[in-house]
Amino acid sequence: MSAPLVMGKGWEGLVRVPDEEEFARIPERSEGRNFGFDYYYPLVSRSRKIKEVYRIVKKVAKTDATVLICGETGTGKELIAGLIQFISHRAEKPFVRVNCAALPENLLESELFGHEKGAFTGALRTHIGKFEQANGGTIFLDEIGDMSLATQAKILRVLQEKSFERVGGLKTIYTDVRVISATNKDLMKEIAEGRFRLDLYYRLAVITIHLPPLRERREDIPLLAEYFRRRCCAEIKKNVPGFTEEAMRLMVNHWWPGNIRELRNMVERAVLIVDEGKLIGPNDLGMTGKDYFAAGGTDRRRDGSVVFTSDTLNLEEIEKRAILAALSRTDWVQKDAAKLLGISPRALNYKIAQFGITHPSWKKHV
Ligand SMILES: Nc1ncnc2c1ncn2[C@@H]1O[C@H](COP(=O)(O)OP(=O)(O)OP(=O)(O)O)[C@@H](O)[C@H]1O
Ligand SMILES: [Mg+2]
Repeated sequence: MSAPLVMGKGWEGLVRVPDEEEFARIPERSEGRNFGFDYYYPLVSRSRKIKEVYRIVKKVAKTDATVLICGETGTGKELIAGLIQFISHRAEKPFVRVNCAALPENLLESELFGHEKGAFTGALRTHIGKFEQANGGTIFLDEIGDMSLATQAKILRVLQEKSFERVGGLKTIYTDVRVISATNKDLMKEIAEGRFRLDLYYRLAVITIHLPPLRERREDIPLLAEYFRRRCCAEIKKNVPGFTEEAMRLMVNHWWPGNIRELRNMVERAVLIVDEGKLIGPNDLGMTGKDYFAAGGTDRRRDGSVVFTSDTLNLEEIEKRAILAALSRTDWVQKDAAKLLGISPRALNYKIAQFGITHPSWKKHV
């Protein structure tokens, strides 16, 4: 058996983190792309929402339906888009990303559809646009909520007619591309306010995938933190054996506005600054004072109050946190925790099963 994965009492039994052997089996890179963990993630994730996402991903990968991926910044939209292509029959064909937010309007058209030599001043040679480059494969329209209305009209035309002309060109070019798009904006709001075309929305969003923010899948935080710790340790060849209980508690309670990207950066930074051989502690996480206290930092008397930090008013989430806080205060003795919670042991047992909470000490007692 491998060393404890997440140090300190409380969290180590909560998630099933893959052990060393399993980690070794996760391919870091497939075909030059870093999808290894994503591919593996649903197998170890405890989040029902994530399992549902991957169930849809697998289904849509087999089709050519357009897919719209929505989610806050850093939730993994681009990774999911790449994954869909990777497991689709187009895997061997190009995956071309277009950042719709980053290009000025006049360039966007030539970027998307290409231009003929001499089409405009500076067009010294023929340029093959993204839609043509992606032929046979997938085009990933990123930040789609930031497109101008004029560009939206052009994209709509390609989707409807499956053809376009290069700027300054007369020949109609037919392409076979699968379109995946992503946004962190609320497109319904954009539509209501006249900034996004409803007809384009229907074309792009035959299937919509919502990636839940990290704060709605807290059960996966220890798992992801552990994954990033291991990967970073291996990369920089440094021995950082794990996290202290307090550090893990802070991470689980943090509200993660930057989602998985923020978590990865936080863990990588911590691995870099912590002393060799030491566990990552609260101070290595580099949280701002505000975030630190909001996540229930330092003041041990506030132990239970982390349950009621204002980042969520979701009853199920609050209930789960109350149960976890009670269990951790009572050293995971269910009878005592039930008393603390004011419910019967039977009711608690039911909730524990419902939320999938486990702890190693229970195997001996139950
Ligand atoms: N399932 C995952 N496994 C491992 N790493 C992940 C996963 N999801 C996201 N990440 C990490 O988070 C980072 C952000 O992911 P990605 O770029 O796909 O997010 P995004 O939703 O497109 O963000 P943005 O809206 O800011 O463009 C990635 O670089 C990757 O390191
Ligand atoms: Mg992105």
